[in-house]
Amino acid sequence: MSEKSDAVKANVTLEKLVSLSRRRGFVFQSSEIYGGQSGAWDYGPLGVELKKNIQQVWWKEMTQMHDNIVGLDAAILMHPKVWSASGHVENFTDPLVECKKCKGRFRADHIDLKGPCPTCGSRDTLGEPRKFNLMFTTHIGPVEETSSLIYLRPETAQGIFVNFKNVVASSRVKVPFGIAQVGKAFRNEIVTKAFIFRTAEFEQMEMQFFINPKEEPKWFEYWKQSRIDYYSNKLGIAPEHLRFHQHGKDELAHYAINAFDIEFLFPMGWQELEGIHSRSDYDLRRHQEFSGDKQEYLDQEAQERFIPYVIETSAGLTRSVLMVLTDAYEEETLGEGDVRTVMHFHPNLAPVKVAVMPVVKKDGLLELAQELEKSLRDDFTTMLEPTGNIGKNYRRQDEIGTPYCVTVDYQTKDDQTVTIRYRDSMKQERIKISELSNFIRNNIRNYRRGQ
Ligand code: GAP
Repeated sequence: MSEKSDAVKANVTLEKLVSLSRRRGFVFQSSEIYGGQSGAWDYGPLGVELKKNIQQVWWKEMTQMHDNIVGLDAAILMHPKVWSASGHVENFTDPLVECKKCKGRFRADHIDLKGPCPTCGSRDTLGEPRKFNLMFTTHIGPVEETSSLIYLRPETAQGIFVNFKNVVASSRVKVPFGIAQVGKAFRNEIVTKAFIFRTAEFEQMEMQFFINPKEEPKWFEYWKQSRIDYYSNKLGIAPEHLRFHQHGKDELAHYAINAFDIEFLFPMGWQELEGIHSRSDYDLRRHQEFSGDKQEYLDQEAQERFIPYVIETSAGLTRSVLMVLTDAYEEETLGEGDVRTVMHFHPNLAPVKVAVMPVVKKDGLLELAQELEKSLRDDFTTMLEPTGNIGKNYRRQDEIGTPYCVTVDYQTKDDQTVTIRYRDSMKQERIKISELSNFIRNNIRNYRRGQ
């Protein structure tokens, strides 16, 4: 891509992403007709495809591409003791400050405590910081009493820890091995903000890798590198938009002995996308203590018994959607006053892979296009553009990030060929219908941004 278009791209704002997402059906505000529910968002027809595609690429990378990682889908509702053992009841807190005048709530570590209230501007109205637990609570069963208290999980990881022994006993895994899981998590964040970046309800893609404690440095390094490489190699994210941030002692979560964030350059600046955490044997040891159930592993070959250490890779799925939208967005200047908005999604992530359109609606071309679109459905997500307005169709498909547009014209009737037009370069070429599926499949496999 040209330097110029890269410079324009640097102007991606959250407002533009929110607007495109709503207009094209990627993301809607939750309960919008009632004025909206803060901290919650709904994924529309294209957003749900994009999110599923991001999840699928991650799942394949973790489970299919590794012979020592297996999957799991644990319940969101877990025994309340899990969260005492995990340390979340005691430690999963943020410092909350309230303004006595406007009742605005802020994270104490995000504002100047001596300054005026960031919302109403009043002086000396900010109260003392107090610890605020981020876990949502609810009740299970018909009677609301303390014994029925239950939490919505704030991370998916604990579902993996409490199933560690089940997985060892029921599958062929041997340390070192991993368990991968994707699912919803909930946090009563003091401030939810930045569109889908920080929300109360979100999705995580987590993998816990169980290792011999002696091998902690080796595996920590392995997963750090492997995860940052993944974003550029598998999702097509520009490497210069990714970096590491190592946690200082005061930043480490209560379970971590070492941690690196993979940060992405979001419209509001560099922010965490994924955490790589060295969790030692903290979680399994605590579950052993609280449940009385031994969580040791016997290495048969070395005749060694130990509680495994864990290296965790913890990525936000919904936050990844924002990353992919940000990285893909471009306003490309084509000529005097002519700007096209294009989403450069990696074709593996694009909600629609192929749009099929007739050059005009008449003379049987629409029917031919319909037939072709149907024949591609088994291989790709497709969309028919029936209007015969090619220019407009291309622009619409560019804006939703469709990598291939296939046009049926009069020549198609004679020689069974169509034109394929590439989203990034806008180049076109003619190709036989009989070769189209294989051609697109190969093109997706070898995709490089800008092609
Ligand atoms: N199990 C470890 C853990 O949960 P974390 O750093 O608290 O670690 C991991 O969260 C990832 O989950 C983050 O990097 C982020 O992508 C995502 N995440 C966390 N809180 C979020 C929120 N409120 N909204 C959206 N995504 C969130």
